[in-house]
Amino acid sequence: MENAKDAIIVTGATGGLGHAVSVFMAGEAKKNGACLVLSFRNPEKAEELKKKVLATGIEEGNLFLERLNLSDFLSIDSFVRRIAGYGFRVKTIVNNAGSMYKYYTVNHQGYEMNMLTNFIGPAVLSLKLSGYMEKGGSVINVLSLTRNYVDLDDSLWKGSQSTYSRLVNYSKSKAALTVFTSAMAESFPDLYVNGVDPGVMNTAMLKMDKWFDPLTNIFFRPFTYKPEKSLEAVKSAYINEGRNSGYIFSVKRKIPIEKKFSAHKLKTAIFAKIKELAWGAAD
Ligand SMILES: NC(=O)c1ccc[n+]([C@@H]2O[C@H](COP(=O)([O-])OP(=O)(O)OC[C@H]3O[C@@H](n4cnc5c(N)ncnc54)[C@H](OP(=O)(O)O)[C@@H]3O)[C@@H](O)[C@H]2O)c1
Repeated sequence: MENAKDAIIVTGATGGLGHAVSVFMAGEAKKNGACLVLSFRNPEKAEELKKKVLATGIEEGNLFLERLNLSDFLSIDSFVRRIAGYGFRVKTIVNNAGSMYKYYTVNHQGYEMNMLTNFIGPAVLSLKLSGYMEKGGSVINVLSLTRNYVDLDDSLWKGSQSTYSRLVNYSKSKAALTVFTSAMAESFPDLYVNGVDPGVMNTAMLKMDKWFDPLTNIFFRPFTYKPEKSLEAVKSAYINEGRNSGYIFSVKRKIPIEKKFSAHKLKTAIFAKIKELAWGAAD
């Protein structure tokens, strides 16, 4: 990869935290002569984001807006092929995209959608992109405090319609991503693989489509972080002063990934399944 150009990748760039991370990373890319790859699903949102990011002064030729749907394996494959085609050496991936699904939904293979978007997709993407990373590259997975309030069992991949709860299944997907972060950190000693806990943020994600949404807007939102505040946690993971791997960075501190996740009984099985999905059964 001698002549490769460095690239920083941000997924879910069109969202609340995604905007803040994109603008920050544009500054970093400009400073380091790197390219910035921002993933989107909605072209109108991508256009709006592009204007905002170009206002940082990053060269237009160094900015790449790329379509990516993390709940679709073909879309992930296509994204990785485009990254490979540009000949990038991937320095940093910020797995920021995330969603919470109101209803129980599965893809054609039966994987539950919170799991696909928030855990399986980013995990498969990270393993596939690791082939374009070199020593010192960094994977930053955006987790959630809610990971602490659930546990995982063998049903994690598919969930169940009868027990489905939007918040519980979302939380399980973030718990699974935390277990994966720990496993990838151990398996890739040349990379830094960390999580970020952004706190509760005032973004679209807080909307629950419930009767209490207007009350949330009045009584809860004002006390949540602005995405620019949560960005501090992403910045700490990016700068990574202590050269840590297998850590969780928040606005106020960093901690090693909690034992509940780093020593989870399903850790080996979870990592093996993601490797199979990313690289095929033979790997
Ligand atoms: N808000 C909070 O309080 C909170 C707390 C803890 C953790 N987090 C995490 O922080 C991250 C950023 O969330 P946010 O609050 O900024 O939410 P947001 O404003 O809703 O942004 C989410 C982003 O993810 C993208 N996305 C959703 N589904 C996707 C898919 N299947 N494939 C690719 N991209 C997809 C969205 O794209 P579109 O623009 O096309 O919808 C959007 O860009 C997420 O990982 C979230 O779980 C949020």
